[in-house]
Order: sequence, then C-alpha cells, then structure tokens
Amino acid sequence: MNTIELLDTAPATTLSPARIMDVGMSFWASKTLLTAVKLDVFTELSTNSLTGAELQSRLGLHPRSSHDFFDTLVSLGFLERVGNGAQALYGNAPEAAQFLNRHAPTYIGGLLEMANDRMYPFWGSLEEGLRTGLPQNEMKKTGKSLFDAIYEQPAVLEQFLRGMSGGQMGNFMALAHTFDFGRYDTLCDIGGANATLSICVARQHPHLHCLSVDLPAVVPVAARTIAQAGLSEQIQVGTLDFMRQSFPQAQVITMGNILHDWSLDIKQMLIGKAYQALPDNGALVVIENIIDDERRQNSFGLLMSLNMLIETDGGFDYTHADFHQWATQAGFRSTTKLPLAGPCSAVVAYK
Ligand SMILES: C[S@@+](CC[C@H](N)C(=O)[O-])C[C@H]1O[C@@H](n2cnc3c(N)ncnc32)[C@H](O)[C@@H]1O
Repeated sequence: MNTIELLDTAPATTLSPARIMDVGMSFWASKTLLTAVKLDVFTELSTNSLTGAELQSRLGLHPRSSHDFFDTLVSLGFLERVGNGAQALYGNAPEAAQFLNRHAPTYIGGLLEMANDRMYPFWGSLEEGLRTGLPQNEMKKTGKSLFDAIYEQPAVLEQFLRGMSGGQMGNFMALAHTFDFGRYDTLCDIGGANATLSICVARQHPHLHCLSVDLPAVVPVAARTIAQAGLSEQIQVGTLDFMRQSFPQAQVITMGNILHDWSLDIKQMLIGKAYQALPDNGALVVIENIIDDERRQNSFGLLMSLNMLIETDGGFDYTHADFHQWATQAGFRSTTKLPLAGPCSAVVAYK
C-alpha cells in the first residue's frame, strides 16, 4: 500500500493532541515563571526597561540562554519587548508590574517563591505519594508534623507566611466586599497566619473588632504585619493551639485554608469548636478552593487536594455538599456558598 492509499483509509478525526501536550509540558512554562520570580526579573524591570544584555548582567545570568529565557517570558505575556535584536528593550507586562514587583504592596510572588523552593521539588514525588498515601515534603525526612517542620526554620516560616498571604490576598479582599460584615461586631480568624484576612476585612469595615489567632511562632510576625498596616487598634493577635484549646468567642469565626489541612475527624472537631464559640445567628466563614459538588470542574480545587497529599498527613479539599453535611451535623442551621476570586469560595454556616 503506498502513502496516498494509507491516508485515504485513515479514519477522519477532529481530535487533536494539542491539549495533552499543553498540560503535559506546562511544567516548562510554570518553572520558567517561578524562576523569573525567584531571580527578581520583574522587580529589576520595575523602574525602567533594559536591553537583554543589561538585564542578564543585572541578574548575574550566563549569556547562553538568557535571551531564550527573556523571550519565553515575552511569549507567555509576562514581559513586553519593544523592538527586536540586541537593542530591544524589555519591560514588565501590566499584570507582572502590578503583582510581581517585590517592592509593590500588591506583590503576590510569595506563593510563587514557595512553589519554586518547596512545592516544585516535592511534587516530583507525586507518584510515590499516590502509591503510599504519605506526604512528600519536609515531613518525609524529619518525621515531624508539617507546622513543626516548617516553623523551626525562621526563613522557611517567613516564606510560608508570605506564600499564604500572596495566595489568599485576592480572596480575602473579595470576602471583605461580598460577605455582610455589617451585621456583626466581632471576628476571630482561626489559624490567621500573618493576619492577612483580618487586615483586608478591618480596612473595609472599621467598626469590626478582629482577633487573629495562631501558633506561638507565628504571632510576632502577625503583630508586625498588623502594625505595618497601621491597624493595631482594630486587630488583636493571640496564641491558640486549636488541637488543644477551645476557640475564643466571636460573632464571626473565619478559617482560611485550615480545614483542608486535616483529616475528616479533625475537620469535624474544628467545625464543632466553631459552633461552640459562636452565639445564635453567628457565622462560620470558611475560605478554600471549594470543589464543585460533582467534582468535575474546579481543577484548581482538585489539584489543591492533591497538594494536601504532598503536604499533610490526612488533609483533603472538599465540596460545599460535604461542608453542608459536616456543618449541619455540628448543629448549624444552614449553609451557603459565596464565590470569591478565581477558583476560591467562602462556604458560610449560620448557627
Ligand atoms: C494553610 S495555613 C492558612 C493560613 C491562613 N489562614 C490563610 O488562609 O492563608 C494554616 C495555618 O494554620 C495554623 N495552624 C496549624 N496548626 C495549628 C494549631 N494547632 N493551632 C492554631 N493554628 C494552627 C498555621 O500556623 C497556619 O498559619
């Protein structure tokens, strides 16, 4: 059979392998962006545009592939280049200028720095995690619990807290606008890390008294961040070990990315503690990448749940239907879901 006859008999198909290749190889693009953040490409370009040679020299890179690196960032839409060739000038694209300049208050690179340094290498062992059901992060080497392992190194602690803040900032700002805080006077954020939720909500609702509680290692970082935001009058910080202690009383209790760190029995224990600490008509507000009830659409939420395999002993992400069941079992009368930024939502349980 010659080539023409073969082509004639091949089945007509509209399927394309393009999406398979896109997703399969997307770690190239991901690691290029993470490395650019780590190398401070966007901070370097925040004040003025530079030629490729100037940028390469400022970043201390080898000449061999720096032009490929910069032009890849152009093609991905994170850099812009005026002109072609050696005299062309590189500058930040608008999103990079706003969110990836380390000196801007809107910097969200903390999460990407942590993704580069911790999550990227740990995800290399996803296969082992899936086979064993065991975490693949610092816990694997040290045998310590996640937060003990992270918090014993001050630099890792600070990077983790910046990472949490960068990942959640947009969601907390959306929550401050979307949820009706006007009905309440007091809020307690459980596992509040460096108090990003309290800061976003307090700025928007000056009448609200906030308390952000977390483990002892975190509290000085939270106090410093609140002072820098000029909100020390409105936001208090406190120490709480939610495994051992009951929650402080408040009309609104918030938990951002807390429940997904833990197994089902601990999730239910924490929801029960929130119920005990709230007055009638009080609200528990949980901010996570809530998976759609049919578990088909929210890829980020599902990937986050795989990340909980990599990062925790028994954690997993969940749907609104799951949360509704746990909350009503704890005594809450109703629940609702509020979309926040991108794949993240707040699920709210009313007492
Ligand atoms: C994934 S981070 C979420 C931080 C923040 N709420 C957010 O949404 O970005 C989990 C937080 O829970 C805190 N945490 C872990 N174990 C805790 C415990 N036993 N008691 C109080 N806080 C704890 C950690 O210190 C950390 O700040």
